[in-house]
Amino acid sequence: MNHLPTPADHADGFLRFDAVSRVYGSGPTSVRALGPITLDIHAGELVAIMGPSGSGKTTLLSLAGALDKPTQGRVLLHGSELSALSPDDCSRLRRQTVGFVFQDLNLLPGLTALENVALPLELDGVAQIEAHDQAREALQGVQLLELADRFPENLSGGEQQRVAIARAFVGQRSLLLADEPTGALDSVTGEIIMQLLRDHCGRGKTAVVATHNSAHAAWADRVLFLRDGELINESN
Ligand SMILES: Nc1ncnc2c1ncn2[C@@H]1O[C@H](COP(=O)(O)OP(=O)(O)O)[C@@H](O)[C@H]1O
Ligand SMILES: [Mg+2]
Repeated sequence: MNHLPTPADHADGFLRFDAVSRVYGSGPTSVRALGPITLDIHAGELVAIMGPSGSGKTTLLSLAGALDKPTQGRVLLHGSELSALSPDDCSRLRRQTVGFVFQDLNLLPGLTALENVALPLELDGVAQIEAHDQAREALQGVQLLELADRFPENLSGGEQQRVAIARAFVGQRSLLLADEPTGALDSVTGEIIMQLLRDHCGRGKTAVVATHNSAHAAWADRVLFLRDGELINESN
């Protein structure tokens, strides 16, 4: 049976944190990395998460993408509780619904930009011709189609970041999670990345982006501030 969430399941609270906490370890040495937090992110929103190092940004993104499970509370995507998914459904969700962009981009050096972007689809069983078509579309979306045949080492840092974003966009994924994607970039390149994410959300996709940079966060519909794992303020 297929328990994967679909867009029709839950139109409003696209991504919901319901009294979610994540505690590492137990007893006197335990660390409360996050929460409890309650949060609703809507389809089509671009949300920025700001906060000092250690404030829980990566933990929040990991929970949103089902890379980690809450100690307490529930994370719901399209109305489905992520912790309740079977391991198979969970990995399918990570392949088909959620795209990640990490600060160290994890581009494979032996593959061209196009092949890197097509890879998640091919791993998911999409035929190569179709996967490459969709990868070209995703590269077009980050204005990088002309560099599709370059290897990562022949791309600038900003271009590599755009390839990583295209890889996270590719196919029908509806949620993009980016962990400080502009961290290593100069400010102009960082702005371009944020603008691409802005455009992506304008096309009905949802993105949650951790950033240290308030100018970059200003591209978001909403900015959430974390401190010591707690949501301290919100602005829009
Ligand atoms: N695997 C882990 N084991 C123990 N503590 C962790 C682990 N991952 C994160 N933490 C702790 O949780 C808190 C939040 O970390 P993190 O979510 O990485 O913050 P940020 O991304 O904002 O820098 C920090 O105190 C960090 O040390
Ligand atoms: Mg982090």
